[in-house]
This record gives sequence, C-alpha cells and structure tokens, in this order.
Amino acid sequence: MPGVMNVVGARPQFVKAGPVSRALAASGLVEILVHTGQHYDRLMSDAIMADVGLRDPDYNLGVGSGSHGVQTGLMLQAIEPLILDTGPDVVLTYGDTNSTIAAALAAAKLHVPTGHVEAGLRSFNRAMPEELNRVATDHLSDLLFAPTDLAMSNLRKEGLEERAILTGDVMVDALHSIDLESLELPDWSGAPFYAATIHRPSNTDDPERIAGIIEALGNLNAPVHLMAHPRLKRQMEGFNVEIPDSVIVDAPLPYATMLGVVKASQGLITDSGGLQKEAFILGVPCTTVRDETEWPETLEGRWNVLAGSDLAKLAELVVRKPESDRANPFGSGNAASEIVAQLMKHID
Ligand code: UD1
Repeated sequence: MPGVMNVVGARPQFVKAGPVSRALAASGLVEILVHTGQHYDRLMSDAIMADVGLRDPDYNLGVGSGSHGVQTGLMLQAIEPLILDTGPDVVLTYGDTNSTIAAALAAAKLHVPTGHVEAGLRSFNRAMPEELNRVATDHLSDLLFAPTDLAMSNLRKEGLEERAILTGDVMVDALHSIDLESLELPDWSGAPFYAATIHRPSNTDDPERIAGIIEALGNLNAPVHLMAHPRLKRQMEGFNVEIPDSVIVDAPLPYATMLGVVKASQGLITDSGGLQKEAFILGVPCTTVRDETEWPETLEGRWNVLAGSDLAKLAELVVRKPESDRANPFGSGNAASEIVAQLMKHID
C-alpha cells in the first residue's frame, strides 16, 4: 500500500523523525520507515530510536560507514529498488547527512515527490559535507519544510520560495515530548560540570586541532564530561591525544538523558548543530567550536558564541553571562503535525 517513506540513518535524524512518525500514525497515513544503516552502533542508533519513540524500521539497508562516495553510492543503490518496490506517494528526508542526499536523489530521479524536513539551513561553508548535502537536497526536493524565518529567507534567495513552507522546527516537538523533570541523570551531574561533544571531521581529523580542543577543555573552571562520538574516540586514541584529568570521556548518551545533562550543566561546548539549538531552548550557554553556524538565531544575546579559531579564549567565553531575554525563533512544537497536514494536501 502506498504511503510516506520516511528515510533516516544517522543519530540526529532519529530525533527529527520521531515526532513526524507519530503524527503520521495519528493521521492514518501509512508510513514506510527506512533506516539506511549509516549509524549502526547501539548507542548511535537503536538506543536513540527507542528513546525518541521510533519503532523498528520496516527496512534497514545496512550500509554502514565508508568514504562519502562509497557510503552515498551504496545508499542510492539500495534505496532506488526499494522505492520501486514499495511505490510511496512521497519520500521524506531529514537534515543534511549522506542518508538525506541519497534518498532525495534516488526519489527525484524516479519522479517520486519528495519532502525535506529542516530545509533552508545554510552555514555558507562549502567545505562541510553537510552544507553540500543540504543545498543539493533543497534543490532536488518538491516540498521544503523550513523551521525558521531565516531558513525561509535562505530558500527565497535561492529561488525556491514556491516550494517552501514555514512549519517550525520538529526538534522543538521532540524536546517537548520529554519530561525533563523526571529523568534519571548520571550521579556526576549533581556537581558543577560542563557538557561537551565534538564530532566534525574538521575538528577530529587533524591531530593538532583535536589536541588543542582537548587541552582547552582541560583549562575550564569545572570538570568537562565529553560524550564522545565513535570517530572522536578513535581519533583521540590514534593520535595519542593527552587527556587532562578534568576531562572525562564518556560514551554517547541517549537523547533524553543528553538533554537532561545539558540542562544540568554550567554550559555546553560542542560542534553539533542540533545541540546548539537545544541548549538555546533550555537556556544553557553554548560555546560552539566552529567558525560559523547554520543556526545564527542562537547567537542572539550571546546564548551561543563561535569559538572555532580562538581556543585560547574558551575558558573566558564559557563563563560569560548571556542576556536574560531570548526570543523563540524555532516554533511552538507543532511542526510535525503541520508537516503531515501539508503532506495530506499533496497526496491524492
Ligand atoms: C554524520 C553526519 C553529520 C551528523 C552526524 C551525527 C554526514 C556527512 N554527516 O556524521 O551531519 O552531524 O552524523 O552523528 O552524513 N561510526 C561508528 N559507529 C556508528 C557510526 C559511525 O563507529 O554507528 C564511526 C565510523 O568510524 C565512521 C565515522 O564514525 O566512519 C563517521 O560516521 P559517518 O556516518 O560517516 O558520519 P558522522 O561523522 O557520524
């Protein structure tokens, strides 16, 4: 039976697809849930899926890790026959990973309508694989579900306004679905600490850069809990990076626990896109170890600051006091039902 093919593959996509999957179920539309297999470790995949209420996928393409060309190519090769076999009315993609571009390209070439959730984000840094993925996915897709006014304006500048719809951000829906007060948090979260995550190739793949980041984390005025992506862990080991006593390397946390830990922290240090925004919504100062952000809304009132090129300033930046007021540019938490309502208009 035709329906909506929801394609996920990497950790942030499970979070974004959770609310949409629930809204699809409530609408009565059939969902075909496809996991490309881009992320496969339990802590990067199954644990997060369970945490955000995603059911077991109908299909797991088992693609795994590889160079960009190999990984994306294997996905294309696997998604194309699946679209032909299942005949979805629309293929939905999320964010900016290799799973996103592969699904959008496979569907567009087969003339199957596509929707892109989290359309219109731009870092304007073409060296990021995600920037290439998001620009290409927006131009390939038929329905562009934009989370913010700024995303709408980016799409307008690229001549895509006719396909763009402002829906709000599905990550707000996901965050609202968690009861932060009744979470069980790790014991260490009772004392002052900073939370940190680092996973971008630009930060992990150069030995001097990663050593510089870890050293800077060691100079903060409280211990740092570093929730390490598998690539970061592997690179730190491979490069023999010296880890100061005050930097504690932990495994990646499930979604809800991570939100609770960020909320309990003195501040977040990250290069993740989604976490910058979650910290902003939770009212936690975020210091981003990059030179640019695709979420410039978070920079307002210094809730988020960019510290990519000046690691020596990190200790000074993390203790800043952001302005007390901050806007709510990400919507009120009903983006998923808005997206599904739009899909219903476009499915006969
Ligand atoms: C991908 C996304 C990135 C997103 C991130 C979230 C792309 C281009 N990038 O980056 O936008 O922010 O997911 O985490 O799609 N690995 C494991 N186990 C896993 C998954 C990965 O060990 O379950 C290791 C492998 O060594 C792999 C490396 O991490 O080669 C990178 O994984 P990959 O899926 O290529 O990209 P991410 O860095 O996770």
